[in-house]
Amino acid sequence: MTERLESREKVTGAARYAFEYPVENVAYAAAVQASVGRGEITAVDTEAAMALPGVLAVLSCENAPKLSDPPDGELAVFQSRTVSYRGQFVAVVVGETLETAREAARLVHVEYVSEAPDVRLRNDHPDLYQPGKVNPVFPAETELGEPEEEFNNSAVRVDVTYTTPAEHNNPMEPHATLASWDEHGHLTLYDSTQGASTVQSMLAKTFGLDPSHVRVVAPHVGGGFGSKGIPKPNVVLAAMAAGAVGRPVKFAVPRQQMYATTGYRTPTIQRFRLGADTDGRLNAIIHEVVEQTSTVKEFAEQTATPTRVMYQAPHRRTSHRLVALDVPTPSWMRAPGETPGMYALESVMDELAVATGIDPIELRIRNDTDREPESGLPFSSRNLVACLKEGAGRFGWAGRDPATGVRWEGRKLIGTGVAASTYPAYMSPNRATARAEPDGTFTVRIAAADIGTGARTALALIAAETLKADLGDVTVELGDSAFPRASVAGGSSGTAGWGTAVVRACEALRGKLNGAVPPEGLEAEADTAAELKAREEYARHAFGAQFAEVEVDADTGEVRVRRMLGVFAAGRIINPTTARSQFIGGMTMGVGMALMEESVMDEEFGDFLNRDLAQYHVPACADVRDIDAAWVEESDPHLNPMGSKGIGEIGIVGAAAAVGNAVHHATGIRVRHLPITPAKLLQDL
Ligand code: MOS
Repeated sequence: MTERLESREKVTGAARYAFEYPVENVAYAAAVQASVGRGEITAVDTEAAMALPGVLAVLSCENAPKLSDPPDGELAVFQSRTVSYRGQFVAVVVGETLETAREAARLVHVEYVSEAPDVRLRNDHPDLYQPGKVNPVFPAETELGEPEEEFNNSAVRVDVTYTTPAEHNNPMEPHATLASWDEHGHLTLYDSTQGASTVQSMLAKTFGLDPSHVRVVAPHVGGGFGSKGIPKPNVVLAAMAAGAVGRPVKFAVPRQQMYATTGYRTPTIQRFRLGADTDGRLNAIIHEVVEQTSTVKEFAEQTATPTRVMYQAPHRRTSHRLVALDVPTPSWMRAPGETPGMYALESVMDELAVATGIDPIELRIRNDTDREPESGLPFSSRNLVACLKEGAGRFGWAGRDPATGVRWEGRKLIGTGVAASTYPAYMSPNRATARAEPDGTFTVRIAAADIGTGARTALALIAAETLKADLGDVTVELGDSAFPRASVAGGSSGTAGWGTAVVRACEALRGKLNGAVPPEGLEAEADTAAELKAREEYARHAFGAQFAEVEVDADTGEVRVRRMLGVFAAGRIINPTTARSQFIGGMTMGVGMALMEESVMDEEFGDFLNRDLAQYHVPACADVRDIDAAWVEESDPHLNPMGSKGIGEIGIVGAAAAVGNAVHHATGIRVRHLPITPAKLLQDL
């Protein structure tokens, strides 16, 4: 039980975030967004903006430097006259002060020829296509047996469609960059990012620099939830602006501009067909997903992939169809794929439980499997049933009356729901160094990111354990691309991937330690690429069970989550204190997904109508009454030296389904279109 090591720095304000670094002679950038949803820029009039005292430069497609080789369409900032979506960055103003830059941005006049944007996702869109793969490397479509025929022949059939809206990550710290170029043409970026090494290599490619001439510094990051997993256009914009004025430039994306420019979770339309026998044993599973990408780049969310992992059934099909609309580019948001996909799967499993009259926990146990259903691989460990049983005991599931719409407390209807969770146990190659000093202390360096997860603390615990040292004698330095190359804080892979490199570096250091440490210290390094390649093939996933109790006001339709419990099987838990926060944080985001979060597309003009936290609701303290997380002991020898699985994302997976299933149990109303708002319930209450 270790509190995060940097907590004192954070609460006292000593921890520096990207925008806060003091630099001499700094200037400020403010961006101009496209006011049309699709078109071409015909002219950019900067005269009024440039006339404002304190304005240093205005950049747009008319005068921006040509970039070298942006590895991502979103990074090709100002490289063309084409407007791909409303809200896209089309110009930047650099000023002596932030206020000057913002005022001048208002004075930049951009002219367009435009046409009506096509922004509405629908499952009969004529341009739907099957992508070559879904993220990161999964087939878009899979099929085993005779799913259609067997579905039609099944004794019990459920055929329903769910939709999930676009959702925005909304980290507390905005996407922010402080960019500066030195006299040798080397670029330094203080950037709010989930991966310093990734920003380094992608920006090097964008500007045609040797990666060693780009340094990215990010020791503290105020959240990202995936939106900072790769650099977004703001980073290029800041670097370009700094180059243009020959001074360091700060650029933070205002929350109002974040909705268009830094990514969001794609909306989905998901048709599910489950065919089962009267005992609830699944015979056929068909999961068909429709979702969107932009015209700038293909982002193919892997929404149906958890269906390939979860339950046995001899006949099965999953598919993804995409349409490239004139919309902002979707991106990663906490458990991309698993979150919307498991919302649908775990909701339709509840519908099957109702259709067969089988308890929803028992139904899941009957369809458990010891091999990954589609790959046929054995699971390295799978303790879904243990989570369901442990959770049922803790939550008080026994004796639950399946009748809906019958438990009244005053004017409130009460219900409970359950759903399963899963998330892959990913791991990437990493490097790290470990140093011993003559005074008996140790320093571990790795370009990992602590985005508020407690990664620094977990890595220090891992290092101390391997070195057999006191935690107080170990310092972990991370968040700097000058340190050994590390994978991104994404895919819940950080602790596993970085931790393995830390273990190997510390083991190598111990091998060198032989008596006293020399005055110049001793250092050892590790690279886990070969070790990772040599791993045996297993299906590696974490599992969990989510329970929710809700009350629904029969007069207003308002849903309150009274209590929630998540029980997870995620390998060895390195630091219970911060792990608990990860689980509870994910579950809280699941409550938001179930009841509040919805980014609304402006169907006439494009871009999202929500622009701030008053219009985009996330759970606040009053919405989160009693959320508890627990885990089962899980020993898995096929993972990594720590025996850990990722924990950053599984907390959100299944949480929205548990809430939705509880709402159904309370009211008898099945809302299949998130979020479950009072308006949707009131139609039927
Ligand atoms: Mo997470 S959405 O993989 O950063």
